[in-house]
Amino acid sequence: MIGTDINKDFCHWLAHIKMSRLVILVFAMLIFIPLIMHFYLSKVERSSISISSNSHFDISEDLNFIQDFDVKDGVEELIRIRGSVLSELRDMEQKRQKLLVEIQGYTKNIEELKQEIFHLQTNLNRLKISVEQAQVAQKEAVQQNTPDLALPKKLTANFFPEKLPSIPKHLSRNCKMFSCFDHSRCSLTSGFPVYLYDPDQHPVMNYGWDVDGFLKTTLKQTLGYNPHLTSKPEEACVYLVLVGEALRDTGDVSDNVGNQLNLPPLDSTALKRLPFWGGDGRNHVLLNLARRDLTAGSGDIFSNVDTGRAILVQSTFMWHQFRPGFDLIVSPVLGPPGGDVWQECPFMVPSRRKYLLTFQGEMKTNHKSPSTPNYAPDDSDLAKETQELDKFVLEHLKDLQKTNTSDKFLFEFECVLASDDNVNAAPHDWALCGTDSSRRSVLKESTYALIFAPGSPDLITTTLLQARIYEALRSAAIPVVLGGDQVTLAYNEVIQWRRVAIFLPKARITELHFLLRAIPDEDVLLFRRQGRLVWEKYLASVQSTLDTIVAVLRNRLNIPALPAETFTAVSVFNDTFQPIQVPVAVDTEQEESLGPLEPPYNSPAYRRNYSLPLTQGAEMWNDWGDPFRLYAALPMDPVLPSDAKFIGSGRGFRPIGQGSGGAGKEFSESLGGNNPREQFTVLLLTYEREQVLIDSIARLRGLPYLNSVVVVWNSPRPPNAELRWPDIGIPVHVIKAARNSLNNRFLPLDILQTEAILSVDDDAHLRHDEILFGFRVWREHRSRIVGFPGRYHALDVNTKNTWLYNSNYSCELSMVLTGAAFLHRHYLHLYWKWLPQAIRDKVDEYMNCEDIAMNFLVSHVTRQPPVKVTSRWTFRCPGCPQSLSEDDTHFQERHKCINFFSQVFGYTPLLNTQYRADSILFKTRIPHDKQKCFKFI
Ligand SMILES: *[C@@H]1O[C@H](CO)[C@@H](O)[C@H](O)[C@H]1NC(C)=O
Ligand SMILES: *[C@@H]1O[C@H](CO)[C@@H](O)[C@H](O)[C@H]1NC(C)=O
Ligand SMILES: *[C@@H]1O[C@H](CO)[C@@H](O)[C@H](O)[C@H]1NC(C)=O
Ligand SMILES: *[C@@H]1O[C@H](CO)[C@@H](O)[C@H](O)[C@H]1NC(C)=O
Repeated sequence: MIGTDINKDFCHWLAHIKMSRLVILVFAMLIFIPLIMHFYLSKVERSSISISSNSHFDISEDLNFIQDFDVKDGVEELIRIRGSVLSELRDMEQKRQKLLVEIQGYTKNIEELKQEIFHLQTNLNRLKISVEQAQVAQKEAVQQNTPDLALPKKLTANFFPEKLPSIPKHLSRNCKMFSCFDHSRCSLTSGFPVYLYDPDQHPVMNYGWDVDGFLKTTLKQTLGYNPHLTSKPEEACVYLVLVGEALRDTGDVSDNVGNQLNLPPLDSTALKRLPFWGGDGRNHVLLNLARRDLTAGSGDIFSNVDTGRAILVQSTFMWHQFRPGFDLIVSPVLGPPGGDVWQECPFMVPSRRKYLLTFQGEMKTNHKSPSTPNYAPDDSDLAKETQELDKFVLEHLKDLQKTNTSDKFLFEFECVLASDDNVNAAPHDWALCGTDSSRRSVLKESTYALIFAPGSPDLITTTLLQARIYEALRSAAIPVVLGGDQVTLAYNEVIQWRRVAIFLPKARITELHFLLRAIPDEDVLLFRRQGRLVWEKYLASVQSTLDTIVAVLRNRLNIPALPAETFTAVSVFNDTFQPIQVPVAVDTEQEESLGPLEPPYNSPAYRRNYSLPLTQGAEMWNDWGDPFRLYAALPMDPVLPSDAKFIGSGRGFRPIGQGSGGAGKEFSESLGGNNPREQFTVLLLTYEREQVLIDSIARLRGLPYLNSVVVVWNSPRPPNAELRWPDIGIPVHVIKAARNSLNNRFLPLDILQTEAILSVDDDAHLRHDEILFGFRVWREHRSRIVGFPGRYHALDVNTKNTWLYNSNYSCELSMVLTGAAFLHRHYLHLYWKWLPQAIRDKVDEYMNCEDIAMNFLVSHVTRQPPVKVTSRWTFRCPGCPQSLSEDDTHFQERHKCINFFSQVFGYTPLLNTQYRADSILFKTRIPHDKQKCFKFI
């Protein structure tokens, strides 16, 4: 069987490959054989003549007779004959040559005609497919009975809250969104406008108290960056009132007749005087943000104050006071106003640090804070029980410290140095020890940080507890909350705290050590990574705190976030300066039909405004998502089950062979895959290499699925007016860059109309089949970078703890350079909005490394390596000017970039891969009536 297979194959091989040569051979034979015959026959004839004339002589015996004959004549005769034969032969040879040349000419013509037929056939096929696709698209458009919803008019309130009677205390204590919130001011399409009372114009504090000045100014400033802020109170959905952090005025706190005043911080009559309070404070949000004074004392300023229907936001709550689903627990604002916070965080590896578990704190007893009348010593049975349990817990921890194990513990239960922050700590709460920096240096060496639930069982959360969580996460120590079943942490309706901290009932204290030992390194790092994500996004700065408060409230109402900002593309051309367009010749390189030529088709956008926060809300807040902004589409958007796209939801899908599948021919006709049809955009960054650019653009002519070409013109000089721009049948936008920066390669421009972006260097030379193969692979790995040039980060074996950038041949890679790679448009937003500024600054400083930064970003978000496609290593155009990436300093900078970026991320997110994507039937033997997916790859 194998033999016959091989024979068959051989025949096919002969048949296919040698066809043209055979034709030549047969022609040659047809000419040669008569010629040779003729020559041979004429020779035989002549020799037979000469022999017959001498046939009756016996040559050896009758030599004398010959001598008698005229020998000379005979020889001359022979020479003459020979001469004439020779000249005849020469003639024939000449004729033969002439014929040969003619044959060659004909063969060439045949070949050319064949080529032309082939091209015409390919084009015809392509046109046919294009027509078919257009028909499908048209049918879809006709059948579509549910048109895409147009955005309804933005619907906002345009009246001030009317004045209603205030509500009695028992009602306000049980406030829920349905009973205390006025939804009519917050339509789904309103965009969630938020109004802030200027704390200076509308003070709500009692005499002797004031709101922390830093907070006042920072709040006004940072809210200014929040897109929901409105200056029109009549359209606002919610009204923010800054009521704290309340600090005692430094001056005199006695009244004008000299009596010491002991007023609570918040003035409830001032609240009622707020212009939009509406009698009961509905849709008002009272912000009490702790910053300096971490005591539980001023942590709760709402007790005994009538706050009506307002939502309370603070870090300290009693169980009986907190209204779940209505009030909001926040973290104290301990960080800077805004900006890059990564410097605060230490490296995440090694997973195990010097200490397994640490604690520094002091139980405050017998202390009554002057400002907190509700913290009278608690004599209930529950409180006593708690105190007993606490005693047991402490004993056990002290024993743990003494046991003989390799694990180190550091416990400080009586402060060597008391912290200034908590002179007023509530009774039975754990005050902090030491200074911020002393605590930080211990936490940086702790794998886990022990945190006690507040001593009083009435407390659900305290500022001190939240501050400890904040500090532990800032130092990448994993919080272990003892009494974790008692407490609730900040923004618990959206943040999955179980992925960040370990919550234990106090009774589990005896199992604590065992439990911590049982957690493997992978999970230690996962906890740590999650903690850093939560800290950076929601807790780290005043800005993140305010954005989070607004976003959580908006999330409750399921009002979509505002769309992410895009950069407005400004063309380098204008009314007076227009490009000269010239047609380009057909590229003879395209030997196969790779897909239909269609008019530009933009990716559908913003289809999940109202469902994304519901179906993937948890991921948005806790994983890859961005809960603050709405994006046109996400790399992680879900796909339909494969049957749904045939039954009922098939719009836009282009299944291969209309669902019956198929090899190369059917494959080239439809996109197939799990996603509906789409196109991609070529995004090119260029700097003063006009001809190289023009050639690159010209090569894109006739590329199927190409939506448009966007050229970012990095040079301050406009393009040469003489430049002849190739007309490739689709729009080519040339965009002015604000300044020359490699970061511009990833500008999230408003004219990028597809999810798929092919980022290419201006000198990259990719064939059409390679591009389309890359595109098809990207469609299956939408969240990853999919591209051609692979590189890796290698350990510097000399230092053992730094990385080297490496572009040598290798069977493992960790980066795919964005000089020729597909990536999702979403990452352009993340590159500009999420990535710390320090990274973009480094890219500008070196004029290098933007591609490494993008690889870091995508690997960080996905925790997956990039995907390399096909086998090409070099694809620079030969003869193009040497690109700047060749010299040694370029490499030195790239080493430094990797190490610097690792520092910023807190770890090295790059992951290795040994995988390369090739098309499925590549190098597969297939029957000769079938086509491969691609001819060459
Ligand atoms: C979703 O939001 C975007 C951005 O605000 C808007 O353009 C789009 O029309 C919205 N779609 C629907 C169906 O509301
Ligand atoms: C601690 O354990 C090690 C070995 O496990 C032993 O050599 C050492 O003597 C022990 N120390 C004490 C104080 O028990
Ligand atoms: C048009 O663009 C050219 C080159 O960028 C510039 O010199 C010219 O001033 C522009 N004209 C107008 C009207 O903006
Ligand atoms: C790449 O390989 C060459 C030769 O094998 C070696 O000299 C060079 O150091 C390697 N480069 C890097 C960055 O490892």
